[in-house]
Parts: sequence; structure tokens; C-alpha cells
Amino acid sequence: MNDIIQQVEQLRQEAEASLAQAKNTEAIRTWHSDYLGRKGRLTALLRVLGSLSNEERPRVGKVINEAKIALEQAVQERQEALARAEMEAARSAERVDVTLPGRPQTLGKLHPTSMTLREIYAIFTAMGFQIYDSPEVETDEYNFQLLNMPPGHPARDMWDTFYTTTPELILRTHTSPGPIHAMREYAPEPIRVILPGKVYRYEQVTARSESMFYQVEGLAVGKHITFCDLKGVLTNFANQMYGEGRETRFRKSYFPFTEPSVEMDIDCVLCNRKGCPVCKYTGWLEILGAGMVHPTVLQYGGYDPSEFSGFAFGMGPDRIALQKYGIDDIRYFFTNDARLFERV
Ligand code: DAH
Repeated sequence: MNDIIQQVEQLRQEAEASLAQAKNTEAIRTWHSDYLGRKGRLTALLRVLGSLSNEERPRVGKVINEAKIALEQAVQERQEALARAEMEAARSAERVDVTLPGRPQTLGKLHPTSMTLREIYAIFTAMGFQIYDSPEVETDEYNFQLLNMPPGHPARDMWDTFYTTTPELILRTHTSPGPIHAMREYAPEPIRVILPGKVYRYEQVTARSESMFYQVEGLAVGKHITFCDLKGVLTNFANQMYGEGRETRFRKSYFPFTEPSVEMDIDCVLCNRKGCPVCKYTGWLEILGAGMVHPTVLQYGGYDPSEFSGFAFGMGPDRIALQKYGIDDIRYFFTNDARLFERV
């Protein structure tokens, strides 16, 4: 009997040692069938019970049972420990490294025309000009007649117009009707405003012209305003917009709503007046039209031309942006292709 009890003890120790070596679920399963399975070694010892005397049987049975219970508990603990270790290993292998730098997002930019408009606003507001909003849908009266172009006036040919099915209602071809609205709102007070916005022309769309583009109009009305004021304001503007020291020149021109009328050029930023394709070999780039407000137009605006005078100007910020950023095709501005921003 003592012999069997000793065998059980030995087997138990051996089983415990072997369990400690089991490194994975598979090894544990093998261990289980080796010791506790139907053909296992501990189970085999149970079979010996039959050959024992009635006294010995319960004592030996108890020892074997205790060993069985102990080993079953041990294997369960071992299994849990292994499962925990496996989970720990998986967790650290799959860990998210929160200190990794993120992937940079590509950021958008302001449209080149918007950037140019903001520069124009900054320069003119510093000279005391306010920004005045006026409509994009106009009447023939505002777009032409009040600008000294009655029906049939040949100068209307300078503006290819979008007419609507409503008689008299058109898309404005320039921002010049804006000053009429401003004058009629403020007369007889003095005025200093710029009027930015979109304008529309029935044009063949090419690298140089779109059917919709921007203009910024300017208007100053008051007593004793002279052509010197016009030159001073616009020269200051050109110096700030294009850099101090750029040459400027005023050329005589014609607009029905100003008298005298001029166009202002700066020396070509690309060739320094040597002549190149951008300035069409003239050495100069036209940047705006301007003039002293025609007495008739002042009168339409509600000002007495014998007391008041004023100057006006109009420029194309898209054109300025094209020159500034060296972009050769105005169509890029409205085709919604973000590669444009790589160039500005
Ligand atoms: N409206 C003119 C155009 O679209 C530009 C212009 C010229 C505006 C002279 C003015 C001006 O205010 O005085 O071509």
C-alpha cells in the first residue's frame, strides 16, 4: 500500500514539474492526456484500487483523488497564466505608438485673386477708402446710360454684354455702375470708396479672357479734387502693390464716363522694359483705366459739377494676380484644379 502511495506522490511531483515546462496550449493538452486522460498515468493507478483490501482501498483512493484534484487545479491555473501571457504578447506586438508623428494634411490656400483683392483693400483702406458693395445684375440704364452712353452710343461696343430675357436687365459688364449707386446714396457728401466684384462679358474664352472676372472700381468725389489727386493716389497704390521704385506712366485714353481719361501702365515686371511676350514687346503693362468723373455723370449721381469734382478708376485683379504669380492662362482660375496652388 505504501508503495502505491509513494508512486502517487512521485507521479504528482513529476506531473507538476512537467506542467511547469508546458509552454503553450498544445503542450498542456498533451500533458492532460498523459496524466489525467482516460489512458493517463494517474487514471491507471486508480485501476490498481481493485486489487487492494477493503481497508487499504479508501486510504489509497483518497490519496489518488487528492492528487487528481490538485493536478486539475494546477493545470487550470497554468492554462490561465498561459492565456494571459499570450494576450499580453499579442497586445504589445499590436500596440499603437501614439508618439508617431501624424501624416501631414495638404492645406488649401486662398485663391490668387482673393489674395490680390485683400492686398488692394489694405492699400486703399489705408488711404481712407471704404468698400462699397453693388449689384452684379444691373439695368441697361446703370451699366450704360448713366455712364454717358445712351442707346446706340458706339462706345457700348467696348463691352460685350449678356442680355437677359427681361428687357433692360443685364449682367454688368464692368463695376462702373457701382459709383452711380454710391453717389445717389451719399450725395451731397464727399465720397471715397472702392467697389470690388464680379463682372460678365460675352467673350470667347481664351488664355487671356474669361466670361466672368473681377474688377475693382474706385471713386472719390468732393470739392477741389483734381487730376493731381488721381495721380497721387494711383502712384501710391502702384508703389505699394508692385514695390517702391517701379516706373509708372499715364497714357491718354477714352472712356465716355471720364474726362480726361487715362490708362496707367507699370514697367514690365518680367523684362524691365526690354520687351517680352508678356508686355507684347512694349516694355509696359497696363494695370488700370481712370479719369476725372465726367460732369454729366456727376450730375446723374446727384452732384453739382460746378461745385464738385471727382476721379474714378477701374482695374482687373485677376490680371494683376496672373502677372504677379506668373500664370499664363486665366482659365486656371476658374477650373477648380488645386494644382494651381502649387504655383502661388
Ligand atoms: N469700366 C472700365 C472697363 O471696364 C474701366 C474704367 C476706366 C473704370 C476708367 C473707371 C474709369 O472708373 O474711370 O474697361
